[in-house]
Amino acid sequence: MSAAVITVETQEDATHKLIIHCPPSRLSLQGRIQIPGDKSISHRALMLGAIAEGETQIQGLLLGEDPRSTASCFQALGAEISELNTELVKVKGIGLGNFQEPVDVLNAGNSGTTIRLMLGLLASHDGRFFTVTGDGSLRSRPMSRVVKPLQQMGAAIWGRKDNSLAPLAIRGQALKGIHYHSPIASAQVKSCILLAGLNTEGKTTVTEPAVSRDHSERMLRAFGAEVSVDPETKSVTVTGQAKLYGQKVVVPGDISSAAFWLVAGAIVPDSELVIENVGVNPTRTGILEALELMGADIQRENEREVAGEPVADLRVRSSQLKSCTIAGDIIPRLIDEVPILAVAAIFAEGTTVIRDAAELRVKESDRITVMAQQLNKMGAKVTELPDGMEITGGTPLVGTDVDSYTDHRIAMSLAIAALRANGITTIHRAEAAAISYPNFTHTLAEICR
Ligand code: S3P
Repeated sequence: MSAAVITVETQEDATHKLIIHCPPSRLSLQGRIQIPGDKSISHRALMLGAIAEGETQIQGLLLGEDPRSTASCFQALGAEISELNTELVKVKGIGLGNFQEPVDVLNAGNSGTTIRLMLGLLASHDGRFFTVTGDGSLRSRPMSRVVKPLQQMGAAIWGRKDNSLAPLAIRGQALKGIHYHSPIASAQVKSCILLAGLNTEGKTTVTEPAVSRDHSERMLRAFGAEVSVDPETKSVTVTGQAKLYGQKVVVPGDISSAAFWLVAGAIVPDSELVIENVGVNPTRTGILEALELMGADIQRENEREVAGEPVADLRVRSSQLKSCTIAGDIIPRLIDEVPILAVAAIFAEGTTVIRDAAELRVKESDRITVMAQQLNKMGAKVTELPDGMEITGGTPLVGTDVDSYTDHRIAMSLAIAALRANGITTIHRAEAAAISYPNFTHTLAEICR
């Protein structure tokens, strides 16, 4: 019998309360876990499939709400996408530059990747008009980071607050290639500009201050685009007027989803978990390096390459963690994992410092403020910094009412913290987890022993 009691209560407004009660001294986590497909790769497979010629076949697509937003936008733009499932999704591409003018607003939901990458593609569709929007969170997130470089390429884009907030209106134009020096290390910015460069004369280059995830570069190459990467200068160049051809894409498991189990396995005593089929692309493995620095016992097993992406099974066993400092170039390689890293730091000896992560303030929520407030409610000692947080480990957590602020990664991080809290933790608006991890609660209940 499981020592944990995990229940979900659906509220009248359709939100969920996730209620977790586990007598900590009796709980242990055991099992083998299959995680959902990588969110970043799922978006890109649907998008490149839509703009390629011929058919793209996708295995292991993430069935979360974010890729569903991408699929519905690209269907409205003319791509034929079969019913979404994990076995096989077929995308009948329409070829580069061939989007139809949708009859309605394109809605990217909660997904920053959908809206920003799609903007790059829309901007080069000469003579066609598009409008894009998203949910309340997305409509408050900065779009000028992509609007400005697209304008430099010649794009015509309008929006609220000096063209910086969605809803946005785009009148497609013939663009010109640029060399953009991005002030932030952001794969969404980089990918947006590279995608705009595909249907544009000449070459388009993006230089970043630190290397961000490179899934676009890898997949563009696999689809037939000419992409060159200069690691010295952290620059990527795409040659315009490309021709892309449909491919078979196998989506590995999302390391950002695996991260919840890595931390859970590390902090709950007497635990051992194997997380299967995890994408371990080096631009994403900052979380493994950080946890190893903290003394976590994590092993990579069965390392292999699947459809151009490195993959491994990860085994984690519980251990006493110690504090560390996480800052600088590693940050873009673990940016989505900072909320769960903060949970790990609560159970580490000493004070963990996370810096250079101001980007967290413009994610699905302000992840610095929200994590600090919610974890402190549970008894943690987290101090906000302008660009990160300071977490003093070793204070016991007490179950209480906390809120996801509709942010999927906050909901799941708080659920993992609840495994080591005394008493009952109630996570409000926990349904947000379905953005990237629809089966999260089910798997959580399964591994609790
Ligand atoms: C993503 C890039 C990251 C990440 C997001 C997904 C992507 O955002 O936080 O969840 O798929 O390109 P930034 O590149 O803006 O940091």
